[in-house]
Amino acid sequence: MLELKHALWELEKVVDIVQLDNFFQIYLGKKGLLNEEFKVMIDLAPEAKKERGAQLSEIKTKLTEAYEAKQQHFKMGQINEQLEKDLVDISLDATTQHGSYSILAEVRRDAEEICKSMGFVMEYGTEVVTKFENFESVNIPLTHPATEMHDTIYLNDKDPRGENLILRTHTSSMQNYLIKKYGLPLKAVVPGRTYRFENMDASHDTMFYQMEGIVIDKDISVAHFKEMITKLLSALLHKNVETRMRPWYFPFVEPGFEIDVRYEVYNKETGKKELSNWMEILGAGMIHPNVLKEAGVDATQWSGFAFGVGISRLAAVRYGIKDIRYFTNGDLRFAKSFA
Ligand code: PHE
Repeated sequence: MLELKHALWELEKVVDIVQLDNFFQIYLGKKGLLNEEFKVMIDLAPEAKKERGAQLSEIKTKLTEAYEAKQQHFKMGQINEQLEKDLVDISLDATTQHGSYSILAEVRRDAEEICKSMGFVMEYGTEVVTKFENFESVNIPLTHPATEMHDTIYLNDKDPRGENLILRTHTSSMQNYLIKKYGLPLKAVVPGRTYRFENMDASHDTMFYQMEGIVIDKDISVAHFKEMITKLLSALLHKNVETRMRPWYFPFVEPGFEIDVRYEVYNKETGKKELSNWMEILGAGMIHPNVLKEAGVDATQWSGFAFGVGISRLAAVRYGIKDIRYFTNGDLRFAKSFA
């Protein structure tokens, strides 16, 4: 006589889809045991027939459920197996395939490492800034013609004051934030992208990389700046450089300078070493008291300097590239020659 327990135990032993089919034929198929039992039942006395009928129905339901569950299990197994087979390995073999940093990224990363080793803290800041951060916090009132010095790219979104947000035109926009965040004394750099609505040419692009440096402490003088910037630029350019300061106007410094560098170069024709031309490389100066005051600093107690160096400019000098538009125009011949 067919027993549920026994049938389930048989099902338990099934290990693949072929065995499962056999099981079905034996127990649940048209000519299977269950149907046989139903046939035999017809000859029983009414009471016994009713009892056995109920038993068999229960067996049929339970067994079908268990069979279907097992069938589902095997199907999932098959699907997973197929998926495994179809799996495409999208990882590249690191030993044979490798990209490389663009030279801009390389020079920026190098600059970050050098500055960190010189004790600067580093922040990237944000590229979208308020007019306060970009102008007023660095002593450029919004009505001042100096705002026109930077052709600014405006965004539709507004700051809490209701002013349009802008793309930072210089990394000096992070000075106020850095002073407030880190307090004093402060020695920090901000490398990052800056944007100006420029007519593009060999030395101007609408997006360019700058690195802001800011140092504030007691009794900081121009002499500290000159010494530090000469060391920093020598490290950044991988050359021993000589620096020269020319007076220049930036609203957020007083006095302000532009810094030129020159260094020894090898003249192939004469076979002799000679000095390169002076090359303008950054803007700098002693931080204007108004900038300190705006950040809540007592300008009678503290002083400091700030500088903004063009990273594209550095990369151009380091690799002798005449046109900075190559850095971002995606020309693979250029990129590959530095890979
Ligand atoms: N922010 C200036 C520029 O973009 C550079 C600068 C930075 C000058 C810090 C002085 C001090 O041209």
